[in-house]
Amino acid sequence: MPSSPVAELTPSLIAQLQQKAAAAAQNAYAPYSHFRVGAAVLLQDGSIVTGCNVENASYRLTTCAEQTAIASAVSLHGPAIRIRAVAVANLNNAASQPCGACRQTILEFSTPNTTIFFPNQDGTFNHATITDLLPAAFLLHQ
Ligand code: THU
Repeated sequence: MPSSPVAELTPSLIAQLQQKAAAAAQNAYAPYSHFRVGAAVLLQDGSIVTGCNVENASYRLTTCAEQTAIASAVSLHGPAIRIRAVAVANLNNAASQPCGACRQTILEFSTPNTTIFFPNQDGTFNHATITDLLPAAFLLHQ
């Protein structure tokens, strides 16, 4: 039986990822929604890159924390990055799963086992693979 992707991540690595996501949320620029989000992306080489949401007065130009983190990861580590896991946190004590656009952005750099950790309202974390979160993704085969 194949092992669960989460089993390949130690509890301390998962905790570290969640802490880094929460720390990144401290830098959120969210003057409109006041919903402060952070994301920490664990790459296959063990690097961790973080990001926060960056809102805009023209609301639709807002960038989500996951997208900011992934753009930074590509900027820092190049176009061949593969994501092992993503942790998302917010400072609003709210449940928050990655939005649809973020799922598609995560998928772009994922394997089928890429695992996303996201907060429940009670402060505990839930997790799911990118395949679970985005089962019918748009793919462009070149
Ligand atoms: N947000 C994220 O940063 N990530 C998500 O996956 C969902 C939403 C941000 C965008 C906006 O700044 C705020 O949360 C409220 O939607």
